Order: sequence, then C-alpha cells, then structure tokens
Amino acid sequence: MAMRFLVIFLAISMIMAPLIHAIPDQTDEAADKWFKNLPNAKPKSKKLHFFIHDVAKAPTGQYPSIVPVAQANMTAHSPTQFGVVNVVDDLLTSGPSTSSKQVGYVEGVYVSSSQKTVSLLVALNFVFTEGKHNGSTLSVLGRIAEFSANREFPILGGSGDFKMAQGIAVANVHSADPKTGNRIVECKFRFLHY
Ligand SMILES: *[C@@H]1O[C@H](CO)[C@@H](O)[C@H](O)[C@H]1NC(C)=O
Ligand SMILES: *[C@@H]1O[C@H](CO)[C@@H](O)[C@H](O)[C@H]1NC(C)=O
Repeated sequence: MAMRFLVIFLAISMIMAPLIHAIPDQTDEAADKWFKNLPNAKPKSKKLHFFIHDVAKAPTGQYPSIVPVAQANMTAHSPTQFGVVNVVDDLLTSGPSTSSKQVGYVEGVYVSSSQKTVSLLVALNFVFTEGKHNGSTLSVLGRIAEFSANREFPILGGSGDFKMAQGIAVANVHSADPKTGNRIVECKFRFLHY
C-alpha cells in the first residue's frame, strides 16, 4: 500500500517538476536581502482603508463572488447555518461604489462555525493589484460575529511590501441588500510590517 502511494507520489512529482521549475524565482534575491537586513529592521506602521463587495446574487449574465460549496445534512435544520462553507473572490475598491477605483481582490473562505450564534471562520487573502502595492498580499484569519459592529479580526501575515505583517482589521457593513444578500463591507486595516 505504502509502495503504491510512493509510486503515485513520484509520478506526480515527475509530471509537476517541469511546471515548478518553469516558475521564475524573480524575488529571491530581493527576499534574501530583506531577510539579511531583518534583524536590524524597524517595523513600519501602515493604515489601509477599502471596501469589499460580496455579491451573493449577481445580475443576469454575471457570476456571484461568494458561492456556497459545501454543507452538512444538518445545516438545513441549523438556525445558524452551521457547516456551510462559502468560497469568495470579492472585488476590493477604494470607495463604497462598485465603480470606484479597484485596488484588488479578496480571496478565501467563510465557514459557518458556530451552532449557537451566527459566526464565521474567515480565512482571506487580500490581493492588491493596483499602484505601488501591486502584487503584495495580506492574510487574515479570524472570527466574524455576523451581527456585531466594528468586527475585528487579525492580520497574520503578508507578502511583497507587507512581509511579516501583523495587526488588526476592523470591518463594518456599509450597505446590504436583504433581497439579494449582496453586501458592501468597509474595512480598516492597521498593521506593522517589515
Ligand atoms: C445525508 O443525506 C443524504 C440524502 O438524504 C443521505 O443519503 C446520507 O446518508 C446523509 N448523510 C448522513 C451522514 O446522515
Ligand atoms: C500589476 O502587476 C501585474 C503583474 O506584474 C501587471 O501585469 C499589471 O499590469 C500591474 N497593474 C498595474 C495597475 O500596475
């Protein structure tokens, strides 16, 4: 049995190897320089402010940006929708309107993970695609209690300009459409990075 897995693993490795080597390691030198300097580096503080667009029900011809991908049999009977897993790929903009400047995306999962209250485990990557932070990311992991204001969740890390980011994100629903479930959430990030 173990042998069979080893053979499968080796076969996958051989198929994937050319793909892995094909990815250019453009940032390695810069990352090395950053790492060498790290013991003497001072943290930089940063504030970011933007809006997340959760589209549960999209207009005809468009796709939603939040989709339920799994749930348990009991979820349908749960008052808190315990067990639902949603995958998101939301638009991130500088202002509350969908037509305001796009700064990136929010990719990740929301999991309904409480049987007593409506609360979510959120694991999100904020991916910046504009301006000087283009290509940088921030990773967020935490709990969102759906009905509370100033929902706070931890920023645990980042890449590119935001290496070793640590801080907090504070989220508030800016507007919500009860008919579609679509929401615009205002997010304020405060964090240190190196
Ligand atoms: C879930 O529901 C399906 C369809 O009713 C049933 O076939 C399956 O056995 C159920 N699974 C569990 C774990 O109860
Ligand atoms: C962001 O970076 C990507 C990849 O390097 C590039 O294709 C894109 O044009 C950049 N976008 C902006 C707005 O600079």
